[in-house]
Amino acid sequence: MKLFVDSGSVKDIEALASIGILDGVTTNPSLLAKEGGDYRQILKRICDIVKGPVSGEVVATDYAGMVREGRDIAAIDEHMVVKVPLTRDGVTACKTLSGEGIRVNVTLIFSAPQAWLAAKAGASYVSPFVGRLDDIGNSGMQVVREIVDLFDNADYSTEVLVASVRNPTHVIEAARLGAHVVTVPAPVIDSLFKHPLTDIGLEKFLKDWEKAQGAKV
Ligand code: G3P
Repeated sequence: MKLFVDSGSVKDIEALASIGILDGVTTNPSLLAKEGGDYRQILKRICDIVKGPVSGEVVATDYAGMVREGRDIAAIDEHMVVKVPLTRDGVTACKTLSGEGIRVNVTLIFSAPQAWLAAKAGASYVSPFVGRLDDIGNSGMQVVREIVDLFDNADYSTEVLVASVRNPTHVIEAARLGAHVVTVPAPVIDSLFKHPLTDIGLEKFLKDWEKAQGAKV
């Protein structure tokens, strides 16, 4: 499963890219609004750092506007993927943009039927929002399971990109279910590294080592 970071922060993306396990980035209007500045410049900078798929989202809600913005986003860099929402106009725009060879990530997906529509329109990625489904008492992972099964059985090449990830369990469940990609906020990636027994174990190893060095002199 590929690991993307869900962030518009160049600083966070640089830090994660330096580890060497980051495959791509997703952004959305909320994340880029938080950063301020020229969003095209930010996206270009991110593409230069990661050199993998970087999703930038349209803000138009009508077909013509989405296609215009989508072409503009795709022109920023060869790594750009255009994110459109799962609406009638979004699916229509997906069909047009993917027909032009532009990779499209259809976002705000909350059900398998929605994912199926996006796949039929040639989406490269569908983004089910697991956290937001869990928030309203549904099971985000159940929807991921249905989409993975659907794409496997129908032999669609569209990748399942699990989004709205809130914790390490979401990440591991996504991998177990066979999702192709998980996009994870930087603080949740940080939490993947952590276990109290790792810290305790390391402290003990170093103490024992120091003691042995002291005993030699
Ligand atoms: O980028 C889309 C998605 O990951 C947003 O997540 O936490 O705002 O539901 P969240």
